[in-house]
Amino acid sequence: MLIIILQDIGILCAISGILALILILAQYFFMNYGDCKISINDKRDVTVKGGLSLLGSLADNKIYIPSACGGRGTCGTCRCTVLEGGGPVLPTETPFLSPADINNHVRLACQVKVKNDIKIQIPDSIFNIRAYRVVVEEIINYTYDIRGITLKLLEPTTIDFKAGQYVQLESPKYGRVKQKATRAYSISSKPEIKDKLQLIIRKVPEGMVTTWTNEFLKEGDIVNLTGPYGEFMIKDTNADMIFVSGGSGLAPIKAMLEHLEVTGSNRYMANFFGARTLKDLYLVDYMDHFKAVFNAYEYLPVLSSPEPGDNWTGKTGYTMSYFKDKLRDPKNTEAYLCGSPGMINAVVKAMVEMGVPKDKIYFDSFS
Ligand SMILES: Cc1cc2nc3c(=O)[nH]c(=O)nc-3n(C[C@H](O)[C@H](O)[C@H](O)COP(=O)(O)OP(=O)(O)OC[C@H]3O[C@@H](n4cnc5c(N)ncnc54)[C@H](O)[C@@H]3O)c2cc1C
Ligand code: FES
Repeated sequence: MLIIILQDIGILCAISGILALILILAQYFFMNYGDCKISINDKRDVTVKGGLSLLGSLADNKIYIPSACGGRGTCGTCRCTVLEGGGPVLPTETPFLSPADINNHVRLACQVKVKNDIKIQIPDSIFNIRAYRVVVEEIINYTYDIRGITLKLLEPTTIDFKAGQYVQLESPKYGRVKQKATRAYSISSKPEIKDKLQLIIRKVPEGMVTTWTNEFLKEGDIVNLTGPYGEFMIKDTNADMIFVSGGSGLAPIKAMLEHLEVTGSNRYMANFFGARTLKDLYLVDYMDHFKAVFNAYEYLPVLSSPEPGDNWTGKTGYTMSYFKDKLRDPKNTEAYLCGSPGMINAVVKAMVEMGVPKDKIYFDSFS
């Protein structure tokens, strides 16, 4: 009986081995795309090993396309024009592409696989994005789930960026997480400081990167990031400015205000911050101190669910309820919004209803 069982196990093992071998051979012969050429903007060619994503293949050649979700196909930021060789548009891309995009050959670089020579167009500004090695200089716990993390640049030693832009931070393998991941984080320090970057990061429950940043990362650790990315920047006009943020969405607003403090500004500014309870508020005195810096600045924290023990006597409900009082001239107002997609959608709707032109509402949505 034992011999029969051992024989059966042996046969099963042999079959599994043969199947594995067939798979490896199939992969080698049928999915080995060899070397492929990526032709960029008709100016530059890079040769890559076929079979990988366009996003990863370009990154291997130090060309960093914005990819806020780290290539998972959930953010839609890795748009680029693929003129030849990209294959058909995939169902994973269509939610992020309009019919006009598809007509114009716009694709998501993380979804396109390089299987043959390919011809693409990307904005020249992408060539300014670099990889940086940084050391964690300081970590401050602003709230129970929000940290301020100061990074000192090691290689290269300086960075040029605009207030409002973001970097993509790479988490290493840590704890039980066996793969690296990258996510977008807005720079919360002013661009005039070129040798350091501050980030403000809120822990997302079970979040792959924020569990690392907020529970594992320590001062002295060496970290990799790329940047700067993004178009969320202050416009050079005299229009009134309404800032609205929530949670770690304060990060780029802080950078913008610090930058305006350096350049000087007479513009009217109302800075709304939405939080649930008192323990979700942070940098309150710091945000308030800009009153003494600018001629016409107000900081307006609003709590949606203050707890009885908070003894909160300030504004309650949602930030939108207080916009009307602060919109002096809606047509001549720019809105700068940052936070969760739900908050952004609600604020955009309210602002448009109150007469702020849609094309003057700028935002970064932390999707
Ligand atoms: C342009 C840009 C700038 C950003 N800047 C910042 C910043 O300055 N500070 C900051 O803290 N975050 C910022 N984010 C969000 C950040 O990139 C990550 O998405 C976020 O930190 C979650 O990453 P994670 O790996 O921990 O979670 P993941 O492992 O990606 O997600 C785990 C689970 O949580 C859900 N989830 C993901 N993000 C959120 C969220 N924000 N709230 C609730 N649930 C979520 C996911 O759907 C998933 O189910 C920014 C995003 C963008 C696009
Ligand atoms: S990187 Fe997020 S969709 Fe491609």
